[in-house]
Amino acid sequence: MKIAIMGYGTIGSGVAEVLEVNKDLITERAGEPVEVKYILDLREFPGDPNEDKIVHDYKIIVEDNEVGVVVEAMGGVEPAYTFVKEMLLAGKQVATSNKNLVAEKGAELIAIAREKNINFMFGASVGGGIPIIRPLNKCLTADEIEEITGILNGTTNYMLTRMANEGISFDDVLKDAQAKGYAEADPTADVEGFDPCRKIAILTSLVCGKQVDYTDVYTEGITKISTEDFEYARKMERSIKLLASSKSENGSYSCMVAPFMLDKTHPLCNVNDVFNGVFVHGNMLGDAMFYGSGAGKLPTASAVVADVVDMVKHSHVNIFIEWEPEKVQLIDYRESVNKFFVRTTSPKADVEAVFGQVEYVEDVVAEEIGFVTDAMLESEFADKSEKIVVINRIRLG
Ligand code: HSE
Repeated sequence: MKIAIMGYGTIGSGVAEVLEVNKDLITERAGEPVEVKYILDLREFPGDPNEDKIVHDYKIIVEDNEVGVVVEAMGGVEPAYTFVKEMLLAGKQVATSNKNLVAEKGAELIAIAREKNINFMFGASVGGGIPIIRPLNKCLTADEIEEITGILNGTTNYMLTRMANEGISFDDVLKDAQAKGYAEADPTADVEGFDPCRKIAILTSLVCGKQVDYTDVYTEGITKISTEDFEYARKMERSIKLLASSKSENGSYSCMVAPFMLDKTHPLCNVNDVFNGVFVHGNMLGDAMFYGSGAGKLPTASAVVADVVDMVKHSHVNIFIEWEPEKVQLIDYRESVNKFFVRTTSPKADVEAVFGQVEYVEDVVAEEIGFVTDAMLESEFADKSEKIVVINRIRLG
């Protein structure tokens, strides 16, 4: 099988490396050798072992009948979408790690692959190296999935872990995550939560078989989390994690991305560093946890190559993925119920006048107090919190 790789950055070069390092076992598992014929990139790579495979025009790949599988590791929606669509229409199977592309165009590309009796696979688009897409599509098919809650961004989990344990500043730890190849080209997508927002939209689309628009998912990142918040978390014996969650409620789904303070007993409390963890609850299965390397060159490339192997084994067989273009109307996040940890400079009398009896967390930061509310609607909390001075608030999990 001859393949092409589009994009020779962190993930694309990782795919070439995985195919080279594990050449023999991949040949055995795919049933035939898998050989890179072309690498599409705008840049030249003098001295690179794959230098002679670099091409700059994607049409060379489209028009080469010898290429049966294409890996898309360019990132972004365009021109990845145009290239991938043309590859599929030309009868070439495509594996991608690109969550932006999958979140926005997944339903359409899956439909084209089905029409052509080939495959469009995206196992690396969520969870880095953790198999979570394939289990949802192929294994947990006897259940109604009632909840998926995950740490789905390796960069921010790495940052939060180091900020909590070592008190390193936000900017320094972000630079480190970028140097390690975890962060997006524009790390705003990580720290503002846009990346896990797309990932939870993809997982929810697979769970319900319809289109969940990531733009409908309420999203907060970690940019407002400060050293003081970690001091409170330490005192409360909790960890601060950026969670992406999706819960089925009354025939629809409630989705949210936001930082949460997790209790020690929460299954995601000890998912640290660049690891991702995905908690799944099915109505028959009960609970299941998926855990592993959530970002980085080789873990992500490993998931892409696993899809390539699957596609080589199913060259002319479409593996059915239920994800239709019909849009799901998500439940307004203001109708969901949460408990909140709040930091304030308002006097206790004012706090109690608004929130009633609360549980205080004191003597952590001078001239302020922390408190924990009862569970309440997001809309109710928003109204009440306007009546006192709020320095920061974090949901409790
Ligand atoms: N920037 C992403 C992350 C890469 O940190 O999780 C993997 O999708």
